[in-house]
Amino acid sequence: MNPLPHLQRTGGGAQLIVEGAPFLMLAGEVHNSSSSSLAYMERVWERMAALHCNTALTPISWELIEPTEGEFDFTLVDGLLEGARRHNLRLVPLWFGAFKNGRSTYAPEWVKTNPQRFVHAQSHPGHDVLPLSCFCEETIGADSRAFGALMRHLRKVDAEQQTAIMVQVENEVGLMRAPRDFSAPAERVFAQPVPSSLVDYLSTHTKTLHPALSQIQFDDTPSMTWSDMFGGDANEAFMSWGFGRFVGRVAEAGRTAYPLPHFANAWLVQYEGQPAGEYPNGGPVSRMMDIWRAAAPAIEFLAPDIYIDDFAGVCADYARSGNPLFIPEARRDHTAPAGAFYAIGEHSALGFSPFGIESIGGAIEEAIAGPVADASLGIQTDPSGLLLTRTYRLLSHMAPIIAQHQNKGSMRGILQRSAPDMGLDLGGYRLQVKFPTPLTPGQPPAGGLIIALGEGDYLIAGFGFSVQFHPAPGSPSEVDFLEISEGDYRHGEWLPGRRLNGDEYGVQLGAAPCVRRVRVYEHNPPI
Ligand code: DGJ
Repeated sequence: MNPLPHLQRTGGGAQLIVEGAPFLMLAGEVHNSSSSSLAYMERVWERMAALHCNTALTPISWELIEPTEGEFDFTLVDGLLEGARRHNLRLVPLWFGAFKNGRSTYAPEWVKTNPQRFVHAQSHPGHDVLPLSCFCEETIGADSRAFGALMRHLRKVDAEQQTAIMVQVENEVGLMRAPRDFSAPAERVFAQPVPSSLVDYLSTHTKTLHPALSQIQFDDTPSMTWSDMFGGDANEAFMSWGFGRFVGRVAEAGRTAYPLPHFANAWLVQYEGQPAGEYPNGGPVSRMMDIWRAAAPAIEFLAPDIYIDDFAGVCADYARSGNPLFIPEARRDHTAPAGAFYAIGEHSALGFSPFGIESIGGAIEEAIAGPVADASLGIQTDPSGLLLTRTYRLLSHMAPIIAQHQNKGSMRGILQRSAPDMGLDLGGYRLQVKFPTPLTPGQPPAGGLIIALGEGDYLIAGFGFSVQFHPAPGSPSEVDFLEISEGDYRHGEWLPGRRLNGDEYGVQLGAAPCVRRVRVYEHNPPI
């Protein structure tokens, strides 16, 4: 049997290894309710295969696998594995347990209706709210048992074929509209000093702490309160510890049963200075990443769900201090193709996954989800899905060569922002990337990736930009082309097409994703 899917750390990042080789997830996350019906999933699988996805992110909910406490029904799980296999897709199960988007709507009835045993959060003292408390031991235990049972089942039915390759634990956890949880179990933890394991972690990682935490004052007293240590961030730090511990303990139960990579995803801070509680308070937002790492060592990485405009900024914020970048949710609109190229090229992302993937491509979207699904999310789709299809197709064929350059400093990503051009140094030359069409609302931003195969030797893939080559600053030389070739990648192999010269001389990538092999040299004028 192949070793199980795992993360292999390389050059400050990581690669996902599946069946012994790096695997690039060209993924899509299905709508929340789709995977609760195998019949419904049939059209979803077809749509995903047509989009050239190789991985599906599908919710698996606690209420559906454990409708009665201790009695598990894995029919749906088996059906999802079977459907994915039939369509040549890998699966990333999303565990919708006690927490999903700051709510507890996926907990089974026997949990929801027993608030004495499964304590609810309190948004201020004495005021119970619908979401469960992440500090309640009974809930931690019950969720962990259910998730552990799911992972044991996956091991039993899938360890051979390895259709499931990673797993997300809960979904966008955190508490909405509350400064913190004031329930009895939360109060007990808040009254204690900051746990020594958290203090130890933070004080031994001072060099790599997120700037938001770099102001922490470490006292050598073992009795610091949350306020002593975190000042104005005390409530959010406390909630991050609480949710991090919850997710970490659930993940521990899963990994003990079946050690696939486990990760947690974040609903992001939507604008600078937004108060916690307007976004889920205690979720793994980047400013709280270090607390999460201390609280949840069984979680291998934290992943951003990127719906805000600053895609590149979020990628940089999450691809820090060894956290591998994976984007489990992104807008499925015209920005998705450039986002995929950029995250993979610039940050060696493990993969990219627009949310509501089955809604991409008009006709099927109407047939499956109906236009309401999109209107409610306020998202404009890539109406034909053609750009994403071509992007995924090209990236899937290039995946082996991309893998050779991940985390090595020899690959860069291109993402059109407001400037008309951008400069980058790669392969011994200065590259000037120009965007001939200005960024226009509703139109796809240009995107791509550039790999330096060697000095002056490049693969340039993507759409909507041109590239000019210059010598290092101050050098009197001129740079010219030795080769510009069209071509294609098939399963990692370069198939050259036309050699471009004369009227076609220059590196211009049009509106459809394509790849060029380009070699340049420096001509030194005689002195
Ligand atoms: C983020 C959540 O994580 C998803 O499950 C889904 O509800 C989307 N938001 C909807 O935009």
